[in-house]
Amino acid sequence: MCGIVGYVGRSEAAPILLDGLRRLGYRGYDSAGVAIVNGNKVETRKCAGRIAELGKLMAERPPTGTYGISHTRWATHGKPTDQNAHPHFDATGRLALVHNGVIENYQALKDQLIRDGDTNFASETDTEVLAHLIGKLYDQSIAADTSSNGKTKAELPNKKGRLVEAVRTALRQVIGTYGIALVHRDIPDFIVGARRGSPLVLGVGKDENFLASDVSAIVAYTRDAVYLNDFDVVAVERDKFEISSVAGEGGNYQVSKVEFTDADIKKGDYPHYMLKEIFEQPGSVRDAMRGRLSQEECTAKLGGLNMTPAQLRDVGRVVLTGCGTALHAAMIGEYLIEQLAQIPTEVEYASEFRHRNTPMTRDTLVFAISQSGETADTLGALRESRRKGYRTLGICNNVASTIARESDGGVYMHAGPEIGVAATKSFTSQVAILTAIGLLLGRMRHLSTSEGTRIIEALEALPEQIEEVLKLSDQMKAIAKKYASVSGLLFFGRQFNFPIAVEAALKLKEITYLFAEGHPSAELKHGIIALIRPDLPSVFIAPDDAVFSKNMNNIEQVRARKGPVIAITSGNCAKQLKGIADDIVTVPKVPDFVSPILTVIPLQLLAYHLAVELGRDVDKPRNLAKSVTVE
Ligand code: F6R
Repeated sequence: MCGIVGYVGRSEAAPILLDGLRRLGYRGYDSAGVAIVNGNKVETRKCAGRIAELGKLMAERPPTGTYGISHTRWATHGKPTDQNAHPHFDATGRLALVHNGVIENYQALKDQLIRDGDTNFASETDTEVLAHLIGKLYDQSIAADTSSNGKTKAELPNKKGRLVEAVRTALRQVIGTYGIALVHRDIPDFIVGARRGSPLVLGVGKDENFLASDVSAIVAYTRDAVYLNDFDVVAVERDKFEISSVAGEGGNYQVSKVEFTDADIKKGDYPHYMLKEIFEQPGSVRDAMRGRLSQEECTAKLGGLNMTPAQLRDVGRVVLTGCGTALHAAMIGEYLIEQLAQIPTEVEYASEFRHRNTPMTRDTLVFAISQSGETADTLGALRESRRKGYRTLGICNNVASTIARESDGGVYMHAGPEIGVAATKSFTSQVAILTAIGLLLGRMRHLSTSEGTRIIEALEALPEQIEEVLKLSDQMKAIAKKYASVSGLLFFGRQFNFPIAVEAALKLKEITYLFAEGHPSAELKHGIIALIRPDLPSVFIAPDDAVFSKNMNNIEQVRARKGPVIAITSGNCAKQLKGIADDIVTVPKVPDFVSPILTVIPLQLLAYHLAVELGRDVDKPRNLAKSVTVE
């Protein structure tokens, strides 16, 4: 995925575009560029590397002009080089285009352009092919104007209309996904945008308008936004905009108020977004529950599911799907829904679910879980499930994201913007919401009012308990220092905390680049034990729960082979671990079904502090992007 920002107004475009790109840096950061139109010149600055490199280039030779487009890239076609950085141009160099997505049939389109005599390609990208195609169609339209059989000038579409039509015609030939923005040197104060499968938002300002992949890029300038739909084409000028479809029909749209402000997306006093977001968890978990727990009815109230009590009662099976961290939340969801509601629940990798023919029963309820709401595989899974007629709900953070809009209903996380590439607060919000779903479905069946009350109390106590756990940050920093030279870590957990082992390993891999694996504790003896050695610590997530003594057996097995042990535990179990585990981290004792929300936090902190200790770029780890809008 990549990030796009466009601006047309009365201010200098360069600082606005650069500021927007910095805010979208989490979407990709291997090259960046801008194209700003100034009279009959398209001023372009682009380079491989971080947005800071582009900033230097723009400071050395500031581009001027009041409209332009910009891009930060996460490479899909072609290496992250200066040439492959966006914007890309048409064959004449008058049209500049930025693109997020993948043009799957770009080779066929390119071959056709070459057969038609266009060989002037400067990059290896699919994007450049689209720029050439639109440029060619536009030029053909202008050429046809000069030989326009008898039509008066007034009857002919103007240049703006012709460019929009060229965009539509080109996009009708495209197979793949796109969020695009483009400018043409010959058409002043005019930007065209379009989307299919990659997000694009129009920011509506006063005497200025914006395009962006994500509202966070433009919320400093306006909080009025139009979330474009797939196949929308938008023509943007300073004081107006027009939305139509790729097919040429008028588009429906709604101007919405962005929920958060610029202040919410600032790092504040924190050195990294990831640390800020870890520390936001008392509030984000509280917000995930706000207004959703009814003491009176001893259940959860989730009106966004759009399901009647009878429909909820009739759910016979649940499928939870997502990718990465969201999938790990789903793994906990499986334990939660099965324990609290006794409904058979399965977890499916979204990337697998969408392509395999999972047998489903008529009464299956599907949840697509995604922080961004834009992950291509999760979206694909949602569409496949809906196509087959299953009720498919979303659990998303990003309001008005594609998954949120295309699902039959769902639950918003209300976690606020998550900017650090490693997901943290979205995970705990997802688990809290899945607990509420388990409670709701359970109370439609066998769960008693007193059991319902116990679950509500456990959920409501979490924000304060998370505050307690956050006090462990210094201890986790000391542990990170102690183990900074290890070659990797192993993570083990059982039951509700087995998915935490997998999630902790993912966090560590992502931001420290160390080798890490997460397994059910008992699997240790079935092979992994061969890895145990003094320079490979094992982290056991072993709170005071029904399986603590089983975890203890596994810890002893590691100790017997001289493997260092870090234990994440709770309550009185800390005492039992004394002299056995090398490091003991104690979180508050809570019912087993909410314990993962607490045990994950010291492990987020461990990954964070270890990454800082190793000098890694915590918020922008190598090769990653925040949301993966390609397959
Ligand atoms: C891990 C991480 C990724 C995402 C995954 C799904 O820290 O950030 O594994 O969890 O790409 O993203 P969403 O939730 O946006 O669908």
